Amino acid sequence: MTFRVDEQTFSPTPWKLHTPHDAEMVVQSVLGGYPARLHTEEGLETALEQILADSGHVFIAIDHILLSKYPFLSIILEKYPHVKLQADEHLKSLHGLEQVWTAFHGAELTRHSLCLAIGGGTILDAVGLACALYKRGLPMVSVPTTLVAQADSCIGGKTAINWGGNKNQLGSITPPQAVHIWPEWLGTLPDDHRRAGLCEILRSALVGGEAELARFDQHHQAALAGDIHALGQLIAMALSVKAALVDADEQDRGPRFALNLGHTLGHALEAASDYEIPHGLAVGLGLFAEARFFEAQGYATEVTADDLAKRLGVIIPKTQWACARNLPPAAMISALADDKKRQGATLTWVRCLKPGYCQTTSILQADTTDWLTRNPMFSIDY
Ligand SMILES: NC(=O)c1ccc[n+]([C@@H]2O[C@H](COP(=O)([O-])OP(=O)(O)OC[C@H]3O[C@@H](n4cnc5c(N)ncnc54)[C@H](O)[C@@H]3O)[C@@H](O)[C@H]2O)c1
Ligand SMILES: [Zn+2]
Repeated sequence: MTFRVDEQTFSPTPWKLHTPHDAEMVVQSVLGGYPARLHTEEGLETALEQILADSGHVFIAIDHILLSKYPFLSIILEKYPHVKLQADEHLKSLHGLEQVWTAFHGAELTRHSLCLAIGGGTILDAVGLACALYKRGLPMVSVPTTLVAQADSCIGGKTAINWGGNKNQLGSITPPQAVHIWPEWLGTLPDDHRRAGLCEILRSALVGGEAELARFDQHHQAALAGDIHALGQLIAMALSVKAALVDADEQDRGPRFALNLGHTLGHALEAASDYEIPHGLAVGLGLFAEARFFEAQGYATEVTADDLAKRLGVIIPKTQWACARNLPPAAMISALADDKKRQGATLTWVRCLKPGYCQTTSILQADTTDWLTRNPMFSIDY
């Protein structure tokens, strides 16, 4: 099966069996391809110890919350230099980078050392940038532990911190050396974060096509309930779609842009709510709101806002719909004016014409302002 972005056609990157239980794909990069391995077999502890034993001079940067949930980690940390980090947006700052660099320096890391980063997107974004800059490049191996990180952020190499009051303003595209994904970590993930990940996965399914959307429909209820097999199926699907776009456009100057589906209004919702709506859920609300917007502008689409609402209604908590509904249009308009992708009076959006076919579309700010002022997007009650 193939999918299309503007005039280009892509095939989802295939997974190959690595062991009877583990699948692997290679993600292409200017610095050489790197493996992403999906470990579906139980046994996180043994496998992690094996990777560490094979890795030479290793430093571990880890989300501290994981230590209270996985006691074996404390035993591993006794053997390696490490830093325990708090995964909130404060870490994605110059101060957060300094915290990581100070720990690197204390452990006397060189460019031949390796940093194993264990955590969600917040840890991977901040530690990834710290590694990219430290001595002009410390190799990093990523171990994502949230659904957003496993199904999306762990490949593609984007690292970032926030700056000047805006998200992800300073960053790089620096690929990891390898990625190890254990859906098993998701057993302890708070419910809201599972929901956030499912919204990003729905975005990838829409970009990917009918087969991907069918896989989403087949597994999302079980995934919502925490079924590890279902989560693994959805992670594999979402990464196949993302990897195909990263392979073609790692630097994000062309078709990789399709992954911004739901993100134009999603980012605006996130900022306008002062980050009360977490990123993934804002993307889910953004998928719905963008579809409403395009319908209001008279664009034909096979995937209607009502279709999306049926899926998103069970994923996004009512409180978040309410939060979005109550946001003043002026806050959304101002957040959109700050969008990095704005060029003069227009903003480039991604429009999903049908599953597997996205187009970049220039939208006049004035049209968005007019629509948001009338604010019909969350008029449906869930
Ligand atoms: N680089 C990219 O391509 C990319 C893509 C998407 C999002 N992001 C960024 O990722 C960040 C959000 O990351 P996230 O959604 O992964 O959340 P997160 O890393 O902020 O983690 C969410 C919460 O879950 C906790 N947690 C992590 N793993 C856990 C586990 N296994 N069990 C229990 N608790 C766990 C964390 O401590 C935190 O409290 C944002 O800053 C966003 O900008 C980056
Ligand atoms: Zn996103």
